[in-house]
Amino acid sequence: MNDLNIKIYSDGADVDEMILADKQNTVDGFTTNPTLMARAGVTDYLGFAKEVLSHVKEKSISFEVFSDDINEMYDQAMTLKDLGDNVYVKIPVTNTKQEYTYDLVNKLSNESVKLNVTALFTQTHIDEVFKALNNKVPSIISIFAGRIANAGIDPEPTMLYASNLVKEYPNIETLWASSREVFNIFQAERCGTDIITLPPNLLSAMKDIGTDLDDFSLDTVKMFFKDSVAAGFKI
Ligand code: E4P
Repeated sequence: MNDLNIKIYSDGADVDEMILADKQNTVDGFTTNPTLMARAGVTDYLGFAKEVLSHVKEKSISFEVFSDDINEMYDQAMTLKDLGDNVYVKIPVTNTKQEYTYDLVNKLSNESVKLNVTALFTQTHIDEVFKALNNKVPSIISIFAGRIANAGIDPEPTMLYASNLVKEYPNIETLWASSREVFNIFQAERCGTDIITLPPNLLSAMKDIGTDLDDFSLDTVKMFFKDSVAAGFKI
C-alpha cells in the first residue's frame, strides 16, 4: 500500500467513523452525499456538516448540493463553501431533468469555489466539466467507475482518459467513485487516478491486502465450518 500514489478518501456519513479516521490519519480525505447522509439518519444537513467540520479541519471534505434548481444549487454551494477552507462543494453533473450543470460549474469555479463535480459517467461529461472548470482553482472530477462497471462496461478506459486530460493541471484531480471492491484501488492506481473514495466496509477490507491466498482459503473454510457448527446444520 505504501508504494501507491493514490489518495484514499472515506465515503460515508457516520460522524464517529469520520472523526476517528481523521484522528488516526487512516484516510486522506472525505466524501459524502445526500443518500449516504439520509441513510445514516441525518436530518439536519448543515448541523451535520458543521459537526464534522468542527473535527475535520484540514483534510479535504466534500458536501453536496441537493437542490434540483440550478439557481438554488448556486446558493447552496455558496453556503457550503463558507463552512470551511477544506470544503469542496459537490455539484452533480446534471439535475433530475437532465439539465447539465456545466454553466454553473463554470460560474462557481471562476468565483474560486472549490468544486467536486460528481456523478460523471461518460467521456462527454469529463470533457464538458474539464472545459467548465477554472484550472487555477482546486477541483475534483468524480467519475462513478463502480456504477459504470455495474453497467457491464470496463471503467478503466474512461478513468485513463480523465487522467490524461488533467495531467498538465495539478489543481484538477480525478476521483474513482462508487467503489465496489478493494481491487478498485489498484485499478485506479494503474489508471493514474488521483483519489479513490471507499465506503467503510472497503476501508476495513483493506486489511486483507497482501494476504497469502492459501491462508485466505483456509480462513474462508474455517468460517464455513464455524458457521455450520453454530447453526447446528445436519444432513
Ligand atoms: C462519491 O463521492 C460518492 O459519494 C460515492 O462514491 C457514490 O457511490 P455509490 O455508487 O455507492 O452510490
